[in-house]
Amino acid sequence: MNKLTIRDIDVSGKRVLVRTDFNVPLDEKTGAINDDSRIRATLPTIKYLIGRRARVILCSHLGRPKGRVVAKLSLTVVARRLSQILGQTVKVASDSLGAEVKQAVEGLKPGDVILLENIRFHPEEEANDDSFARDLARLADIYVNDAFGASHRSHASIVGVANYLPAVAGLLVEREISVLEGILAHPRHPFAELAGGAKVSDKLGIMANTIDKVDCLLIGGSMAATFLKAKSYQVGTSLVENDKIELATELMKEADQRGVRLMLPVDVVVTPEVTAKAEAKVVSIEEIPPEWEIADIGPQTIKDFSEELKRCRTIFWNGPMGIYEIAQFAKGTQAMARLLAGLKATTIIGGGSSAEVITEMKLADKMTFVSTGGGASLRFLSGQKLPGVEVLLKQGGLT
Ligand code: 3PG
Repeated sequence: MNKLTIRDIDVSGKRVLVRTDFNVPLDEKTGAINDDSRIRATLPTIKYLIGRRARVILCSHLGRPKGRVVAKLSLTVVARRLSQILGQTVKVASDSLGAEVKQAVEGLKPGDVILLENIRFHPEEEANDDSFARDLARLADIYVNDAFGASHRSHASIVGVANYLPAVAGLLVEREISVLEGILAHPRHPFAELAGGAKVSDKLGIMANTIDKVDCLLIGGSMAATFLKAKSYQVGTSLVENDKIELATELMKEADQRGVRLMLPVDVVVTPEVTAKAEAKVVSIEEIPPEWEIADIGPQTIKDFSEELKRCRTIFWNGPMGIYEIAQFAKGTQAMARLLAGLKATTIIGGGSSAEVITEMKLADKMTFVSTGGGASLRFLSGQKLPGVEVLLKQGGLT
C-alpha cells in the first residue's frame, strides 16, 4: 500500500481521531452484539496507540439511523464490549461533537480511550458536510482511518476530516489492502474464485476484474440462475437479472477464450417457496420445475466444486452458495466453508455474508484472511478506488 500508516507518524501524547467500523450485528430483541469480529479487528491499532501514550478518540457509525438519534443504535454496547476485550475502560461520549465532547476529550490522559457517540446521528456525516468535518477534526491532532468496511463511503468522518488533519491508515486498513492487493497482483496458482450470493449485478465487477487472473471461476448461489438462463436452461421462478444476461454471456465467452475453467452448478436444490418448512428436492439443471426456484447447489455440484478447489493454491470466496439463513438450503454454503477450512491453500473470504457464515461456523481462524468489509472489499476487488483510502497521505507525504 502506497499510503502512510500510524507507524510512520509520531503519535505519542497526541490526540488521535480513529475512524473505526464498529457497525456490528445486534440481536433484534436484546440489542446484544451478535458478532464482535469488527471490534476485535481494530485492536492492533488501538493497542499500538495506547502503547505509545496517544490520547485515543474513536469514532464510528452503527446501523443506518439516517441523521437522527436512535437510542437502540447507541455505541454504548460497543464501548462496553471494547472495554472488556481491551481490559481498559472505554468511555462513550454523549455525542460526537459539541462542548461536552470537547471537554471530555480535553480530559483524556495519555493512553486513555474514548468512543464518540454514533456519528450517523448527525445528517452532516453522510452529506460529507465540510464544517462538520472541520469541527470533528478540531478534536484531534492526527486522523487515522481504520474503518476498512466503510472506506467506500465518502462521508465526513472518512473523507472530509482528512482535509484538516494529517491522515494515515490504521493497521487493519493496511492489512486489508495489502491482502486484497496481493491476491490481485501475485496470487499463487492455480487461483480459484468461488462466487455466490443473490445478485449477479453485485459480483459482475469483481468477476470481470479478476477473469484475467484466475484459473477457475466457480459460480453458485441464486445468481447462478442468470448464468444458467444465459445458457438457455429453464430456471423456473429463480431470480434472473435479465439485463445482465448479455454481460454474463460475455464473461463466459471471455473465460473460454482465456482458458479459465468456468463452472456452474450441474444440480441444484429447488423449492416452490423459500421457507424453512417448504418442500425441497435435488434436481439436475435440466429438470428445474417451472414453478420452483433454486435455493442451493446440489450434492454433485458440491463434489465437483470441492474437487476443483482442492487442487488450487489460492481461493477467494465471496457470496453464499444458497439461502444459507434457512437450514435446509445451507448445505452447499456450509460444505464450501468446511472444505476451505481444511485446505492448505491461501483462503481469503470477502466480507459480508460469506464472512458471517465463516464466523458463525467458528471457522474464521482456519482461513488465511477474512475481510471485515462487504461493500468495501467488493469495490476494491472490482478495481475501484476507495475514497477513504485515497485521501490518506502517500508514502513520503510528510517530508
Ligand atoms: C458495512 O457494514 O458494510 C459498513 O459498515 C458500511 O455500512 P453502510 O453500508 O451502512 O454504509
